[in-house]
Amino acid sequence: MIQAGSRVLNPERSTGFAGPLGLPAITKRNREQDLALGGAGRVAEYGVALDGHAMPATPETPRTAGPFFVRHEFPAMQDVPVFPPHIAALRPYVPGLPIEVLARQLAIEPGRIAKLASNENPLGPSPRALRAMVEAAIDFSRYPDTDCVPLVGALAERHGVPAEWIVVGAGSESLLGLVASSMLSQGRKALYPRYAFQAFVNAVQKAGATGIAIDEPELRVDLAGMREGLSRQPSLVYIANPGNPTGTWLEPGELAEFLTLVPPHVVVLLDEAYVEFLPDASQTDAMAWVRQYPNLVVTRTFSKAYGLAGLRVGYAIAQPGLADMLRRVRSPFTVTTLAQAAAEAALEDQPFLERTLANNREAGQLLRAGLEALGLRVLPSATNFLMAEVGDGQTCARRLQEQALIVRPVGNYGLPTWLRISIGTPEESRRLLRAMEPAVAKAR
Ligand SMILES: Cc1ncc(COP(=O)(O)O)c(C=O)c1O
Repeated sequence: MIQAGSRVLNPERSTGFAGPLGLPAITKRNREQDLALGGAGRVAEYGVALDGHAMPATPETPRTAGPFFVRHEFPAMQDVPVFPPHIAALRPYVPGLPIEVLARQLAIEPGRIAKLASNENPLGPSPRALRAMVEAAIDFSRYPDTDCVPLVGALAERHGVPAEWIVVGAGSESLLGLVASSMLSQGRKALYPRYAFQAFVNAVQKAGATGIAIDEPELRVDLAGMREGLSRQPSLVYIANPGNPTGTWLEPGELAEFLTLVPPHVVVLLDEAYVEFLPDASQTDAMAWVRQYPNLVVTRTFSKAYGLAGLRVGYAIAQPGLADMLRRVRSPFTVTTLAQAAAEAALEDQPFLERTLANNREAGQLLRAGLEALGLRVLPSATNFLMAEVGDGQTCARRLQEQALIVRPVGNYGLPTWLRISIGTPEESRRLLRAMEPAVAKAR
């Protein structure tokens, strides 16, 4: 049982079969979910550590260890639904600390906080998207167009594929989940790189399937390892190019070769959330691959380069066999009318995209040069974030947070010595660098 930091609320209420000290007996059947819940019939305090782990609060846990501490009053055991073990073991997703929360903690104006933790667009949304959204806001008493017909039409034209090949979802993360729901179940396996985006791992776990993580000794997807992993008979392979949290990328030739090795009954999900930030020479021709491989699905998002993270729009491109199944698994009406209108307009806002990329180059070069001048190792990146090795990532992040700078420690990815820093504006790069030297001195 997880005892630390929790205290017994009402042991009598909690079970018919008492355990030692009058606490509820934990039977074999319910032990797993009880563990996951922090013990039924108790009050537990859970902290969210800066590295993104939910953790039980203990008397030793400094309250400053994480931004949130929440109190949960767990129901008595007989009131708790019997979750399947793979669901009970799910870890909560911990997003970057919201600006408003830190503003309250530091008692400062939200405008003084630089959020460099969630790889969002520092220029805000595309102005055309904003205008389109305001115009679309006239009537939202009707359900949205579940098939997103105008947006799908614009995307089909942009990518030169039939409209039936495109499935829009509420953020590309929802599509990563739809592919897992379509391909996985208990007994099936999915392959992904060791430092894969957490949503891949969660989607596999939610489906009750088994995840196989392939090591990335160079902090870059190891395609030789992935190729060996294929012999373990996965049903689904996840690769993000470029990757998050590493920011590193694969060259098109390497990926093309890997795809030739994947058996036709294994689906490959190529997540291109950061594709716009890839240098020209490394841009893939993913559409040609989709035409070639009926077992490939490519996902993209409006959250990063297009600045629409808060609206939640992403899409998948795949041949009809796969695309049809994603549409069947998808819930209806998940992409709002406003999001559809904004995404369609953002797609046409080439000047905004160019400004975004120019800003990312300038602020990114400044940030990289400054971090390297402090003697830090910085990974190559083809994204809107940099990974820097700082010593203790949590300590460094906490120090920066005190200076109203939110960055992302990545201990939850198994990289406790690294910090993921989103590239903001050049001014935000300078501000971060000013705060970094003393923060790193504490973290080393
Ligand atoms: C690799 C990767 N894929 C997908 C996403 C999800 O993006 P969204 O759900 O906002 O489209 C992210 C977001 O951080 C990401 O880093």
